[in-house]
Amino acid sequence: MAQDTVMSNAPYERLRAVIQEKKTLQNPLIEILRQAQEIFGYLPMEVQEFISKEMDLPVSKIYGVVTFYNFFSMKPRGKYNINVCLGTACYVKGAARIVTILEEELGVKMGETTPDKLFTLSAVRCVGACSLAPVLVIGEDTFGRLESKNQVADIIKKYKQLN
Ligand code: FES
Repeated sequence: MAQDTVMSNAPYERLRAVIQEKKTLQNPLIEILRQAQEIFGYLPMEVQEFISKEMDLPVSKIYGVVTFYNFFSMKPRGKYNINVCLGTACYVKGAARIVTILEEELGVKMGETTPDKLFTLSAVRCVGACSLAPVLVIGEDTFGRLESKNQVADIIKKYKQLN
């Protein structure tokens, strides 16, 4: 019965259409997962099981791909992904302190999403802006030379005000 509910759910219908369209490609799984993540915002086990059934593939294979690539997420993500660079240059210039400040400001740990679903805190490797270290990236925006709690608080405030 739960299955019937799932089947009549619009996002699943969209995903089914994606699978029908893409499954004849040579290596369709990554593209299908990418679009599934766009539809659902993340890739929980229910979605992976649905893809497994529709594509007649073992769910373990799908899980393997989802967990291998870090652009796939099994947890809901916030509207804004705060990517803190933990590359060498940023680390040397105090990225760990920036992480601590962000964790305090947002009230979540690295990898988690705020309860209001606005921010997800993530770590990335070098984003190619080492001269601005330490750096964080939100969407298209890069913020560098972060030193103080106030700077970080201002960035968060700016994004909160957009909502
Ligand atoms: S190490 Fe952070 S931008 Fe290069």
